[in-house]
Amino acid sequence: MDFYVTLAEARTRADCVVLGLHEGEAPSTPGGALSTRTARELTDTLAAGDFAGRLGDTWLVPLAGRPSRVLLVGLGPRKNWSRRGYRKALAAAAQALTKSGVRDAQVHLTTISVPGVTAYYHARFVTEAIGNALYRIPDLKTGRKPRPPRLARVGVTVTRRVDLAAARRGVNHGTAVNEGARITRDLANLPANVCTPAYLGRYVQGIGRRYRKIRVRVLGPAEIRRLKMGSFLSVTRGSDEPPRLLVLEYRGGRRGRPPVTLIGKGVTFDTGGISLKDPPGMDEMKFDMTGAATVIGVICALASINAAVNVAGVVPACENMPSGRATKPGDIVTSMSGKTVEVLNTDAEGRLILCDAITYARRLRPEVVIDVATLTGACVVALGQHVSGLMSSDDALAAELEAAGRRAGDPCWRLPIAEEYADQLKSNFADLANVAGREGGAITAACFLWKFTDGLRWAHLDIAGTAYVSGAAKGSTGRPVPMLVDYCLNRD
Ligand code: BES
Ligand code: ZN
Ligand code: MN
Repeated sequence: MDFYVTLAEARTRADCVVLGLHEGEAPSTPGGALSTRTARELTDTLAAGDFAGRLGDTWLVPLAGRPSRVLLVGLGPRKNWSRRGYRKALAAAAQALTKSGVRDAQVHLTTISVPGVTAYYHARFVTEAIGNALYRIPDLKTGRKPRPPRLARVGVTVTRRVDLAAARRGVNHGTAVNEGARITRDLANLPANVCTPAYLGRYVQGIGRRYRKIRVRVLGPAEIRRLKMGSFLSVTRGSDEPPRLLVLEYRGGRRGRPPVTLIGKGVTFDTGGISLKDPPGMDEMKFDMTGAATVIGVICALASINAAVNVAGVVPACENMPSGRATKPGDIVTSMSGKTVEVLNTDAEGRLILCDAITYARRLRPEVVIDVATLTGACVVALGQHVSGLMSSDDALAAELEAAGRRAGDPCWRLPIAEEYADQLKSNFADLANVAGREGGAITAACFLWKFTDGLRWAHLDIAGTAYVSGAAKGSTGRPVPMLVDYCLNRD
């Protein structure tokens, strides 16, 4: 996809212009963008009253001249106009464009003022909406593939010359988010018999070849054993798929600046192990490596635009399976940190692999450590699907992530962590148990990780509710790639 930024009043050469329209109003046509003849033709067509401008409605109007069509997008009543409505209108416009035969479109929605949306975010949101509409699941259906969308060129318009540079940055960053989210979604959507720990290892080795500035290491079982990651290894025992520890280092920023270090849960399938899950919906546990896919996606996003930042990724990847060799409830394991853990529930496996990844991350001398994980069903109960759970011992880092999520339209919501909750993880037999009670499950899971973060600036994102959707549109959402790319690009 080819994106460009231009001034709104310049006469368009695109086949299609995209205009917004509030309920009961005329379309907001930037002066000069359309010829008087075209503008009159459009007004006449609208006078027939076929298009009311309800939020998210679209209408592709064929015209005699050039542009040969106008895509009208309903913005709803002006008095309800908001960022959320804007994003909804953009998504509808992007869907309509990709379903139409339009090759070359110029989007004027970016010239509509929206509370709290700068020229940079206008351009970024349009770019992301198009990327979203163009995404296709890499499915394994054998029938004829539907015709791919024709859309190849999208123009983003700004009203003021001074906004051109910011809009170009927004398009650039939006392109990066699209690339990252595509990678994350593709990996997460793959079935667990394809996307194994070894597959993820080969995948990141490919990334290391593609990007000169990304250094990749892929460790196998013997090396993981040598690192004494007894907690991580305890989760892998029941599986015939050998685990991998993936380490990625993207160096685009100042030499010697410590990296933002992202850790991603890479459970390629979570059966629960001996504490076996109920069958309904268990297929969705192929998404239990979305944290890993997010880390890989964010690093590729940054590398794809040569961003001037240093970001590292650490991904423990394995399957959680029951078998005659699997870890049993009550087993005690020794983590890389030396702390012992009583595994009371083998289905609380995410924290067992993440605690060793956190200990490993210290070797990268990180500026901050952010782990990303589909960690708890309790987080979904607490927060639902619209915000990711954020837990951190560092108020400044938490505030930065909250702000990045809000700006990027990929929000998170902070839950507390505290010693009172951590106390629930006491064990009679080891330093820590891997589960507490049912209450505050997202928080006690975070508290388990917290116990391994002494001296680190650390935050935890529980994406169990936001990483994928169930039902008819089942699939990975690509979240929280937009938030994390925003955080990495807009720091200091
Ligand atoms: N991968 C799951 C968490 C999960 C649940 C993600 C639902 C997405 C949707 C995790 O490994 C898990 O099984 N957690 C347990 C923890 C419990 C045993 C303390 C859970 O949430 O039930
Ligand atoms: Zn899991
Ligand atoms: Mn589990």
